[in-house]
Amino acid sequence: MSATISLQQLTDQLEALEAEAAAAIEAAPGPADLEQLRVDLLGKKGRLSAVLGAMGRLPGDERPQLGQRANVLKEQVQQRLGARLEQLRSAAMAERIARESLDVTAPCRYGPPGHRHPLQATVEEILDIFAGLGYRVAEGPEVESDHYNFTALNIPPHHPARDMQDTFYLAPGPDGSERLLRTHTSPVQIRHLEANPPPVRIVAPGRVFRRDAVDATHSPVFHQVEVLALDEGLDFSHLRGTVTTFLERFFGDLPVRFRASYFPFTEPSAEVDVQWRGRWLEVMGCGMVDPAVLEGLGIDPERWSGFAAGLGVERFCMVRHGIDDIRRLYSSDLRFLEQF
Ligand code: DAH
Repeated sequence: MSATISLQQLTDQLEALEAEAAAAIEAAPGPADLEQLRVDLLGKKGRLSAVLGAMGRLPGDERPQLGQRANVLKEQVQQRLGARLEQLRSAAMAERIARESLDVTAPCRYGPPGHRHPLQATVEEILDIFAGLGYRVAEGPEVESDHYNFTALNIPPHHPARDMQDTFYLAPGPDGSERLLRTHTSPVQIRHLEANPPPVRIVAPGRVFRRDAVDATHSPVFHQVEVLALDEGLDFSHLRGTVTTFLERFFGDLPVRFRASYFPFTEPSAEVDVQWRGRWLEVMGCGMVDPAVLEGLGIDPERWSGFAAGLGVERFCMVRHGIDDIRRLYSSDLRFLEQF
């Protein structure tokens, strides 16, 4: 039978081991050294195992005490190893960041430079023209309520646009409210007027959604720009002048015609055509804001009047560039995109 050993002696050994380990870990120069230390200290044939090997020589009732002490040591060592590893890693990262630098202004050497998508360029050009006329950009959410998309715009309950065939309805919101994907940018008119008293002049670009089958001229997701001006004394001549000026700036000096039309939120309403390569093309809807819409917002229609217009960005882009199929605008085909 081997010589007895006291609990105190073994505890002292553990303490010495712990102190030694702490110093060695602190001094370890790299992750590989840490791994080696872990094996030497905690591995099967490591220093801790060696001390615990002598546990058998303790009286049985003292063994749990030593076991507990050993567990504390093991945890401490593991925690120190982890902390040191983290320290080494962040020092390495900091060193790397200091060493590497990236010149984002350097000319591109590996491929053609990127550029704006033709649709985006079209939106920006439209907004630019309106900015020049004193309009500010406004935006609204793509997920809308029935109220903003239809009711507040004077669109009656059984209007065909509300049909499930035309509108993407979503599951109700957390508060049980009805939700849908906006079918036009006109709800931004309402949201803007709720938050901003007239006079206002805004343009609101954005995506809109309709349950349309895809073909050369239809896409279930497309882009519109909404225009709204509300002030004292605005009449149809202001609408006509603004729309004509805008179309001239965008398309150049082309014949423009206004055709009487109907929209629930404008009265009177018109559709606007431009003559492009000998054909009349419908490019936008517009009209004088219907007094019923203003009354719904608590705005006095005797004092304030204005006009609104809405246009499809894809249409503008396609006409301008002679693009024959709307799908080309969404295909990300570089052979197409590189032409712009
Ligand atoms: N919201 C209409 C649509 O999507 C377009 C439109 C027509 C907007 C007339 C207007 C307007 O602001 O006055 O078909």
